[in-house]
Amino acid sequence: MKNREIKGVVLAGGLGTRLRPLTRITNKHLLPVYDKPMIFYPIQTLVDAGIRDVLVVTGGNAAGDFLRLLGNGKDFGLDHLNYAYQEGEGGIAQALSLAEPFARGNPIVVMLGDNLVEKGIAAGVRQFGQMDEGALVYLKEMRDPRPYGVPVLKNGRIVGIEEKPQKPKSNYAVIGVYMYDETVFDLIRTLKPSKRGELEVTDLNNAYMRRGLLHHEVLKGWWADAGESHESLLAANELVAKTRKRQSKCKGKK
Ligand code: DAU
Repeated sequence: MKNREIKGVVLAGGLGTRLRPLTRITNKHLLPVYDKPMIFYPIQTLVDAGIRDVLVVTGGNAAGDFLRLLGNGKDFGLDHLNYAYQEGEGGIAQALSLAEPFARGNPIVVMLGDNLVEKGIAAGVRQFGQMDEGALVYLKEMRDPRPYGVPVLKNGRIVGIEEKPQKPKSNYAVIGVYMYDETVFDLIRTLKPSKRGELEVTDLNNAYMRRGLLHHEVLKGWWADAGESHESLLAANELVAKTRKRQSKCKGKK
């Protein structure tokens, strides 16, 4: 990706059915996580990693609220934000396909709108920026990775990813941060809907893996998938609150 601008995409479509009734009249990514709406966290993470051109993909009935909330990105020090609208809920890879006119042949860093990371992704984005081609995903060690994409690892390389396996083959989750070269949209066109009728990001990552072009990093600091359940939303609130208090204590000592 050398000498190429890396663009950012936040995926915030979907129906958020697992968080009902909280999501009956609004979009999951507008729900609060401690002192900010959920969507603020992935956008800030991309901006902190040096990405200045960001697309938000959303959908459903509350799409207009994103525009009112985020405007042109002033809260993040941006002077422009891009938006796309996903009709229906065709899956993460389908939502990502809407970013093709925005990416215009540039590499992209994708964040799921319900994913929060404590320490950022700047190191991964730097590493991705040095790569000539391919994809980079982040792994996080988990006690129970069953609700996530789970990598099968061999000699330190990913040899497959299984989506929400009953019997995980490793203790890692593939988190919702994905970095792709410009071939990503051609690869999405080769995907078939899964049993649940979605174009799966795990199938996309496996397509890179089969070409020998899937790299990974292990994430430092905590990771939260705030949209997975009511418990995970609560856990994300608590993690952010704790981190903020720790940070303000440190500032106080200086
Ligand atoms: O959080 C990490 C996990 O995210 C990964 O480990 C899994 O491999 C990946 O499939 C995904 O699993 P989830 O079950 O958490 O995906 P979910 O349906 O909650 O969608 C995650 C985000 O993607 C959601 O916040 C909004 C966006 N999305 C999802 C769908 C299905 C869209 O924008 N459009 C969609 O159609």
